[in-house]
Amino acid sequence: MKNTQWTSSQLKQSFLDFWKSKGHTIIRNASLLPENDPSALFTSAGMHPLVSYLMGTPHESGNTKLANIQRCLRTGDIEEVGVTRRHLTFFEMAGNWSLNDYFKKEAINWSFEYLTSKEWLGLDPARLYATVFRGDDDASKDEDSIQIWKDVFNTVGIGANVVDLPEDSDTIEHISCYSKKENWWGPVSKTGPCGPDTEIFYDTGAQHDPAFGKYCHPNCDCGRFIEIWNNVFMEFFKNDAGQYEKAPLKNVDTGLGIERVILILQYKDNDGNVDKRLTIFSTDLFESLSKILVNYFFDNTLTQPLDIYLSEKNIPEPDQIAIKVIIEHTRAAAMVLSEHIEPSNKDRGYVLRRLLRRAMRNMMKLADTYAPTKKQKLDELLGTLLEDIITQYGNEYPELTKEKEAILSLAHTEFKKFEQALQRGSTLFMNTIPEKLNGELAFDLYQSYGFPFELTQEMAAERGITISTVDFEKAKQLHQEVSRKGMEKKFAGGLGDKSPQSVMYHTLTHLLHKSLRDIFGQDIHQQGSNITPERLRFDINIKERLTDEQIKEVENRINGWIAEKLPVTRDEVSAEEADRRGALAFFSEKYGSTVTVYTIGSPDSPVSIERCMGPHVTNTGDIQGTFKITKQEKIGANLLRIKGQLV
Ligand code: ALA
Repeated sequence: MKNTQWTSSQLKQSFLDFWKSKGHTIIRNASLLPENDPSALFTSAGMHPLVSYLMGTPHESGNTKLANIQRCLRTGDIEEVGVTRRHLTFFEMAGNWSLNDYFKKEAINWSFEYLTSKEWLGLDPARLYATVFRGDDDASKDEDSIQIWKDVFNTVGIGANVVDLPEDSDTIEHISCYSKKENWWGPVSKTGPCGPDTEIFYDTGAQHDPAFGKYCHPNCDCGRFIEIWNNVFMEFFKNDAGQYEKAPLKNVDTGLGIERVILILQYKDNDGNVDKRLTIFSTDLFESLSKILVNYFFDNTLTQPLDIYLSEKNIPEPDQIAIKVIIEHTRAAAMVLSEHIEPSNKDRGYVLRRLLRRAMRNMMKLADTYAPTKKQKLDELLGTLLEDIITQYGNEYPELTKEKEAILSLAHTEFKKFEQALQRGSTLFMNTIPEKLNGELAFDLYQSYGFPFELTQEMAAERGITISTVDFEKAKQLHQEVSRKGMEKKFAGGLGDKSPQSVMYHTLTHLLHKSLRDIFGQDIHQQGSNITPERLRFDINIKERLTDEQIKEVENRINGWIAEKLPVTRDEVSAEEADRRGALAFFSEKYGSTVTVYTIGSPDSPVSIERCMGPHVTNTGDIQGTFKITKQEKIGANLLRIKGQLV
């Protein structure tokens, strides 16, 4: 039943080929860790690494049309994973961008061409539904996009009507208007480029489920329509005051979901319908992981699509979800681990811990029911799954292969810690008086011990006490509010201000990186940085705190380079040339693209050479003051945070 003419790799290649044929430069796939955006833990959209270009910095390629496939992580919908047919935390977003080049007309026409032309994806145009922005006090209705869509549908003989309130309409039209909630995108941080968008949905032909509302419409959650592509028209800028200003540039930012499109390509029947049971977990992207799990828990060889197998075997729904959560979270966790993040109770480390522990908890649950004799071996199963992911994605994301040992060993350690936490959490639980067994305690167990809420609920029930999800959610929301405020505070101090002090500190991070590598060897790399006009903060994979001598040594080297008044030069070179020159990179490169390289010192024997977006001082002599390390802090087993200042 699976259409074998499309694989996910072919889809990715075809997307890039299409945009190349339209004059786009294929750019690198950036790291999952956003550089110099302390407001965000992970890259959450294809445009995220491109914000400075969308704000007017010319791209190194010289082109104003760009495209790529970007790995992204979003945990907002983590609870939906495995529940709906389309949600993921880690996903690959295919995107094309116009930097003040083409706008709505070309963007919509090209999207339609790519999706429907026989030369490309060949989807039936009658299956496509567009949504557009309805307009409000901030911005007017997107009449331009409506007209363009009408014309586009007309070219294939479809007379597309427009519906203004699709939720209340008993007919489904090819063009539907929605509010900002659905049809506005961005900014990716607190402020920045944003605008109305037009989303393209595929009609899978499934029957509407009235549990989701009286009428079906493209944004209905019943599963009939799947959103496959978002075209954002970034003609606005959200400022500090929360107002939407007309932006000086008119950019296009798009995102097509590889996992969703491949589901449709691999499973549409001759009429274009996609069996309602099928989800993204039945696509080739998850096939080998599915095989491992079906073999492990059900002692079976998987020869059907995963969803069909689970449904025909009458596996209860919660267990079907558990299988998918394990698949999804181990893939996401492998990607995060490959970026030198370690499980912890903070920020990125906490997201990673949560992914791993949700996967582990679900493995334990399934083992209880289906494979009790194998319960002691679940950490081996986790290792097998991770190895499989590394093999499958290692070519595309070489850091997976490079970090294989670290990924496996960190996951193993986390598994053991989770087992212990389950024991310790149980003790705390048992010692708590019944009156205190409430949502707050459940959240505390969850937050401090990674203790799954469902488990707390189950154990409380055994003592005749009900802990409501609402109380737990309340405690959680309170916590989230506090951490959101914390993140906003952090963001306020990003390099975004580009003040002369921040620029000096930025150049100092390169010198600090270099001095530490000179002392500790070439295996250490910058893991993150955050710059304010007052100080720099720099994370690096060093196990021990620096000794007083090492601190002196680092400071002397850096201050020596400042005194030498070394030139700082900016070059645009190919990724290959940057590698040849030995430029350090915070990002991984994928496709042959042009990159910006900053060299400190003479090009023949530079002190430092790094790929970086800048800005930097033009001479180290412009750095005013003497550099001092003011603080160091261990923030992970192999992660040291250093703070430094100019005095
Ligand atoms: N940035 C847009 C999105 O993520 C394309 O949907």
